[in-house]
Amino acid sequence: MKKLVVANWKMGITSLNEAKIILSEVKRVAHRLHKIEAVICPPTPFISALTGGKIKLGAQDCSAQKEGAHTGEVSAPMLKSVGATHVILGHSERRALGETDELISQKLKLALSAGLKPVLCVGEHARDREGHYLEFVKAQLEAVLRGAPKSQLHNIVLTYEPVWAISTYHQTPPTPHDCQQMVIFMKKVLAHFMGSREALAQPVLYGGSADNRNAQDFLMEGGVSGLLVGRASLTSKKFNEILKIAEKI
Ligand code: PGA
Repeated sequence: MKKLVVANWKMGITSLNEAKIILSEVKRVAHRLHKIEAVICPPTPFISALTGGKIKLGAQDCSAQKEGAHTGEVSAPMLKSVGATHVILGHSERRALGETDELISQKLKLALSAGLKPVLCVGEHARDREGHYLEFVKAQLEAVLRGAPKSQLHNIVLTYEPVWAISTYHQTPPTPHDCQQMVIFMKKVLAHFMGSREALAQPVLYGGSADNRNAQDFLMEGGVSGLLVGRASLTSKKFNEILKIAEKI
């Protein structure tokens, strides 16, 4: 299975020109690599103006409505029509704005039916000794998986992104071992919905201060088949280094 590396540019790229420059630098390296799949998620207005070539393009969110009078919203079919293949859903920065599991579930169903692959983020705010954080992640997963059509579950890219590890909070990421434990746990939850063999084969990404210095450790020892990269994806040199590391593993 190809390693999947997803860049979440957030609002870190502020002009189309800047987006084009970074993308062309990433393309230069990505085009020589064969064992990875790279997805760049720029701010939505830039998607239609960028051509990724081998690099796929994704959105950072989509509407929970398919169409109609919803001012300011961007639907999953619209994103698909301008070339997006993926959409990040359930990111903690959107959950912090009030997005509930129910809303995320609705978005996920629409994304799947539009032919987009949801990069579904789950993760706890903090870890406690009693292990309540496991129940927290389980509930986040179940709430969304329950509503998704069984035949489409294989298109969901689960992503473990502990909120406390996101670079904005200047925290250090979990150890690859901690990550691996969580990935096993998430696959167990997933197995209830799709069967153990399928769940084992399902890609799970790690996100949260993933960068060129820790990519190798997470990919080799963290039990993941890819990474969701925020801050480090804004620097083409760092992101290209991550792609090259993923290619070698
Ligand atoms: P980070 O962000 O890599 O800057 O921690 C990841 C994310 O929030 O998707």
